[in-house]
Amino acid sequence: MKAEVRFQPSGRSVRVAPGTTLIEATRQAGLPMASACGDDGICGRCGVTVLMGADTLSPETGNEAEVKRRNRIAARQRLACRAHTNGSVEITTSYWKEKS
Ligand code: FES
Repeated sequence: MKAEVRFQPSGRSVRVAPGTTLIEATRQAGLPMASACGDDGICGRCGVTVLMGADTLSPETGNEAEVKRRNRIAARQRLACRAHTNGSVEITTSYWKEKS
């Protein structure tokens, strides 16, 4: 069974294998994603807001919480390179546009 990741505000979506990170799904969708650490969970640039389906993501680790705290990322956001999807989820960033 595939997991679905939907991106707002464009409404674009991709179906990916369970366990795929949100940053990998975003790249499959052809959308831009900020990253400055090679997806190593260090830079905090890949924060995304989870609009729906947060409970289907892998749990936040202590390391992810610490990187978010250091980079002043809101608690409701997840690091796209750390969060693995296992179901349907809908995410957004401040820099995605309706037709991006
Ligand atoms: S890409 Fe650097 S923390 Fe996710």
